[in-house]
Amino acid sequence: MRILGIESSCDETGVALVESDGSGALPRLLAHALHSQISMHQAYGGVVPELASRDHIRRVLPLTQAVLAEAKLAREAIDVVAFTRGPGLAGALLVGAGVACALGAALGKPVLGVHHLEGHLLSPFLSADAPEFPFVALLVSGGHTQLMRVEGVGRYELLGETIDDAAGEAFDKSAKLMGLPYPGGPWLAQLAEGGDAQAFRLPRPLLHSGDLDFSFAGLKTAVLTQAKKLGDELEARKADLAASTQAAIVEVLLRKSLSALDGTGLKRLVVAGGVGANRQLRAQLDAACARRGVRVHYPELHLCTDNGAMIAMAAAMRLQAGLEAAQPRYAFDVRPRWPLDALAVGA
Ligand code: KG4
Ligand code: ZN
Repeated sequence: MRILGIESSCDETGVALVESDGSGALPRLLAHALHSQISMHQAYGGVVPELASRDHIRRVLPLTQAVLAEAKLAREAIDVVAFTRGPGLAGALLVGAGVACALGAALGKPVLGVHHLEGHLLSPFLSADAPEFPFVALLVSGGHTQLMRVEGVGRYELLGETIDDAAGEAFDKSAKLMGLPYPGGPWLAQLAEGGDAQAFRLPRPLLHSGDLDFSFAGLKTAVLTQAKKLGDELEARKADLAASTQAAIVEVLLRKSLSALDGTGLKRLVVAGGVGANRQLRAQLDAACARRGVRVHYPELHLCTDNGAMIAMAAAMRLQAGLEAAQPRYAFDVRPRWPLDALAVGA
């Protein structure tokens, strides 16, 4: 069975084709294509939802054609059309949902709406070193920071989450204060490489809260206060401030992930979402988990941020697990707000 996946929840248009052979083996990626809108939004310092929607409209069909050409398949070879149903920007989601349903209707093939975070969560199954269930998942994207206990496809228990900003937001907002381009995470991480992580003492919010929740809003304020204090000196100390900010975010993510592993007794950690591309986070998780005999899995670097492959994969895995029957029904809705644990089997 071949599943086309369309991602359009934010500022990346992604299309991909995966195939599952019915043997129970993991579905495999046949082709994928991506268009990032980052350069378009950069002039505004953040995502402009209306521009995002219009650009998705322009990109999604050419990307679909590129994917089919790469896989050397005609569109009739598609068995199911999957799309990101939420969470995300309403207008952007509607583009993917509308195109997916139109394509499904034209081909007479069923469609399936997918949860964007489930896509991130299952994206490590696209890598050569795929995990096995059960595991603890650290989901760190631009809009979400969550720890989950994952027993299987669709069996997700929320262990903790951010009560305010997400880790990606903490990276992006701090970077913005330092005058770095949007999205600031990768820029801040790059700048931090040449800085001293101990230069500034920044707060580690909720580090000792005794639960698995996060809070990053105060960190951004602390970075702002520090930047103001530095005044004219900021330019010369920017790398130190970046390194100190990254160290604070990474330490909280690391400690809470280890607590989640301790609390559940699980020996496997899966890291997913854009912040999962952060090198410091990877290095520290790898070192701490190696000491505890815990295996860590990541998506391939290029599949950490939003893409169509993770949406096609999540659809394929849900279908394979018998959790979903793709329907030839083409009326659609989107869910801009949609908690992942609402997917839990029996919920
Ligand atoms: O998962 P994602 O592509 O989009 C959402 O679903 O939100 O994550 C985007 C987030 C942004 O906040 C971006 O700054 C952050 O991931 N990010 C990074 C790095 N690469 C992407 N943050 C820190 N270090 C990185 N290398
Ligand atoms: Zn995402």
